[in-house]
Amino acid sequence: MSALKTRFLVKPSDSFNGKIRLPGDKSISHRSIMLGSLADGVVEVSGFLEGEDALATLEAFKKMGVKIEGPENGKLIIHGVGMSGLQAANTALDLGNSGTSMRLLSGLLAGQNFESTLIGDASLSGRPMRRVTDPLATMGAEIESTEYGTAPLVIKGGRALNSINYNLPVASAQVKSCVLLAGMYAQGETTVTEPAPTRDHTERMLKGFAYPITVSGSTVTIQGGGKLKATSIQVPADISSAAFFMVGAAIAKQADVTLLEVGINPTRTGVIDILKLMGAKIDLLNQKEIGGEPIADIHIQSSQLKGIKIPEKLVPLAIDEFPVLFIAAACARGQTILTGAEELRVKESDRIQVMADGLQALGIDARPTPDGMIINPGQIGSGTVDGHGDHRISMAFTMAGLRSSGPIEILDCDNVATSFPNFVELSVNHGLNLMVKT
Ligand code: S3P
Repeated sequence: MSALKTRFLVKPSDSFNGKIRLPGDKSISHRSIMLGSLADGVVEVSGFLEGEDALATLEAFKKMGVKIEGPENGKLIIHGVGMSGLQAANTALDLGNSGTSMRLLSGLLAGQNFESTLIGDASLSGRPMRRVTDPLATMGAEIESTEYGTAPLVIKGGRALNSINYNLPVASAQVKSCVLLAGMYAQGETTVTEPAPTRDHTERMLKGFAYPITVSGSTVTIQGGGKLKATSIQVPADISSAAFFMVGAAIAKQADVTLLEVGINPTRTGVIDILKLMGAKIDLLNQKEIGGEPIADIHIQSSQLKGIKIPEKLVPLAIDEFPVLFIAAACARGQTILTGAEELRVKESDRIQVMADGLQALGIDARPTPDGMIINPGQIGSGTVDGHGDHRISMAFTMAGLRSSGPIEILDCDNVATSFPNFVELSVNHGLNLMVKT
């Protein structure tokens, strides 16, 4: 199968340089459509990520009757329909590869007075959904899934939701956000308490829309029956996309890269902390805030990295960055150990197994464990690795070309378009020797 899909061929190169503007943050882009659609009035969005995942959310809301103009150069005009203005779609909502769309929409749609069906691609249809359907059922929602607790999900709608006090069993921003979005439609106050900090874009954006929500320590409280007041949203560049180029610059022999106006929300900066612990030369310049989210230019130079034991408290704050951090570890001096990251096994692919397989194929001693990996660095060799249709696996192995002894072929790379549509163009423009084969 894989051989029929887009492949990347990356040949060795030594340098990676320049000032780079990256596409918009995926998490914030999804939320801008969801909250913008439910607002009273017109919401203008700039910096929207025109990648397949965020576009799947956009199409879903268009199907539910929301008029959305754009995207054009990252700009959208959303004509919000108010909290009860969505209409039933006449077909299933196809959310492609996007776990964020499916899990957040489950909460939001549980509060509507119509039925919705959510479907996705093979990867999304294999991902665990009980983590959202269980708390929603406790709130009174009725949702059908497969016997394995996976999509398709049929969300009955038309059920009165009651508020809950929910202790998240996993540190997951998607589950937290799902319950909060359902909480907007519940009677009374819903609280969600998380075991460790996770990305808080939903909470920040709800505040931006003047929705009644408070955060105290690890508990978020949302009032049912509120309203979203139209506002404009500027989406910063995605730190998860920046991570590939941060690692690329750190491992390249000769590199000086500045990534412009990247979101540095403290619930997302685990990758910076981990790379700093590994000895990377990183500075944050021009720090400021746009629309309730902190941003900075990230300056990173060629660095001699060292292996570390990754602190478990940083895991949820860098959850999407481990594929490329494993590449950094393979290029460091000394062993790197990751623990407490079993969630990586249920992402777009099993990122522990798939990265260990690929690193081993390139000659690196990478040992998967149930909840992480032990990596003994070495010379990255030449070979073929499988991207498994997981955008972040394909992009991570591309960066290995900045340190490999020979060409690396990466199979099944189409899904890079889900989060980083101009990844190849930017990589090539700034120093990678990368070709796309279809
Ligand atoms: C996301 C949360 C994370 C992350 C995903 C985006 C979000 O998932 O991996 O890419 O936008 O809320 P989990 O909540 O499952 O950790």
